[in-house]
Amino acid sequence: MTMQVEKLDASFGAQVTGVALGSISDTGFDQIYDLWLEHALLVFPGQHLTKGEQEAFASRFGELEFELSPIGNVKKDGTLRVDDDSDNVVQILKGNEGWHYDSTYMEIQALATVFTAHRVPSKGGQTGWADMRSAYTALKDDLKIKIEDLSAFHSLYHSQRKIGHDPKTGSGYGFDNQQPPLRPLVKIHPETGLPALLIGRHAYDIAGLTEHESERLLGELTNFACQPPRLYIHSWTVGDAVLWDNRCLMHRAYPWDFSEAREMWLARIAGNPQTESGSAVSL
Ligand SMILES: [Fe+2]
Repeated sequence: MTMQVEKLDASFGAQVTGVALGSISDTGFDQIYDLWLEHALLVFPGQHLTKGEQEAFASRFGELEFELSPIGNVKKDGTLRVDDDSDNVVQILKGNEGWHYDSTYMEIQALATVFTAHRVPSKGGQTGWADMRSAYTALKDDLKIKIEDLSAFHSLYHSQRKIGHDPKTGSGYGFDNQQPPLRPLVKIHPETGLPALLIGRHAYDIAGLTEHESERLLGELTNFACQPPRLYIHSWTVGDAVLWDNRCLMHRAYPWDFSEAREMWLARIAGNPQTESGSAVSL
């Protein structure tokens, strides 16, 4: 097989064919790793990875943040979850329709994710990504100067409350009453050295700004950043696998009708404590 790489119609991302991720060689993995650093998002159609293969491929990037997990509306017993706002899982799925980075609300921001499609709805349920490297580059110089020394707190409690969900401590991942980490608005990628906007739905309360100023600035930055050509929205086909860099791309889910099944599997790879830790601040 010869690997073929075709750039997506966006400032980032590529589709890769002619490779079997489930049995990839060390040399093949090195090629994928370099492509991932360059394009930040890689789409691999037709992989049909088993859960073991997905876990093994993701683990080549580093330890998983938590075990391989299903995402969607298919419950363990195979029945479909009802679209009910009193269900914590439904509220998290809805929250994920806002632009975000994964685990910025934890002590260590995630490194990357390998995401696979197993059952997909006939419409909706896409995933979108936005390129925070080119978003930063496209900012006007005065805005770059304004944000260069700013930092925001990140919290999953905060982002869920914004959509009307008041999560109880201990009710799920990210709800352990952890202290919100403070993260700079501009993150330097530890491997490429490129700056990227570090914003998203979990970010709030920029240090030194009022709550209102902070909301306004974060909103303006997100609205500006998540626009073409910095945007790619993927409509899933069963068998697709996607790998993205959570140090420079934001992502979001799109809604679908819960009468149809959407079953995705997620391998979230843990970030490097040296470069993906937020600062803990005494409140
Ligand atoms: Fe996410």
